[in-house]
Amino acid sequence: MPAILTPVKTREDILFEDSLRPQKFEDFIGQDNIKTNLKIFIQAARKRNDNLDHVLLYGPPGLGKTSLAYLIAKELGVSIKPTSGPVIEKAGDLSAILTSLQDKEILFIDEIHRLHPSLEEILYSAMEDFSLDVIIGQGPGARSHKLKIKRFTLVGATTRAGKITAPLRSRFGIVHRLDYYQEEELKKIIIRSARILRVKIEDGGAEEIARRARGTPRIANRLLRRVRDFAEVKGDGRIDARIAHQALDQMEVDSFGLDEVDRKILLTIMENFGGGPVGINTIAAAIEEEKETIEGIYEPYLMRLGFLERTIRGRKVTAKAYEHLGFKPPADQKKLF
Ligand SMILES: Nc1ncnc2c1ncn2[C@@H]1O[C@H](COP(=O)(O)OP(=O)(O)OP(=O)(O)O)[C@@H](O)[C@H]1O
Ligand SMILES: [Mg+2]
Repeated sequence: MPAILTPVKTREDILFEDSLRPQKFEDFIGQDNIKTNLKIFIQAARKRNDNLDHVLLYGPPGLGKTSLAYLIAKELGVSIKPTSGPVIEKAGDLSAILTSLQDKEILFIDEIHRLHPSLEEILYSAMEDFSLDVIIGQGPGARSHKLKIKRFTLVGATTRAGKITAPLRSRFGIVHRLDYYQEEELKKIIIRSARILRVKIEDGGAEEIARRARGTPRIANRLLRRVRDFAEVKGDGRIDARIAHQALDQMEVDSFGLDEVDRKILLTIMENFGGGPVGINTIAAAIEEEKETIEGIYEPYLMRLGFLERTIRGRKVTAKAYEHLGFKPPADQKKLF
């Protein structure tokens, strides 16, 4: 995938992410329902002087899960300890983290679906009754002892909610799914980022970038930086609709934000499988991409555009996708069902 459209963090994103990350809830644009709910729960927890209930945030990459975790900490007025599922290797590592937590502090576990299954048990009792089971001694004389830990809040983030076991999921009191952003929201994010980066941008320029950013703030910010380069070299640095349009065309980001792999998925289903339905494994093999990448990154966006449908018999390309790619939908597509 050309890095320009990947929703996954690139090296260059990391350089900018801190400066562009929303610092207050008001800077966090969109996801209104999630914000409203979180604010109420946070206020209630503060009023009771208690820890916030555990929070699980899930959704495609680049939509603001990490940003929200930090905002929750800020709004609660507590510190946050960040770690991630694959980093915690042994039971001892996890126990050490848990026992080091302060009262009401936030433990942020990113990619929580990649936490080793044998460690989940430890989290259960930590989350439920703020205790750890420690074994003292060895052999027949060994005794289990309950060690108290501080009342903390676990904030878990994942791009693959389906990979979280039911028992773990059930221990989160607050569960929110982040969804792709509307163009109008992305436009606001782009205008805010432009201000921070000291880039002059017109409404039309921001709209053009928003339209092609795949509903994803991280991509919107990245496209803004690339278009800025273009505007500085080809113009006077100001981003208007025309410059944005030219720059994005040049980068082969199409009007719906589709890239090569998206097109390959759609074309393969159209040309080799009569438009579908066809199973995900077959598609993955045909285009030589990982099934997980297709399911986690490409498919959700293609479905959101209404270009792809999921049926019990497999994936199906819609008439809208045929049109966008400049083909006529096959008249006999129906008889395949
Ligand atoms: N609602 C928002 N308002 C403004 N900016 C946002 C918003 N959501 C995300 N961003 C911007 O997009 C960047 C990526 O967001 P973030 O790192 O929080 O995504 P994520 O969901 O944690 O991604 P990943 O799944 O890859 O960890 C942030 O640095 C921030 O600049
Ligand atoms: Mg993140």
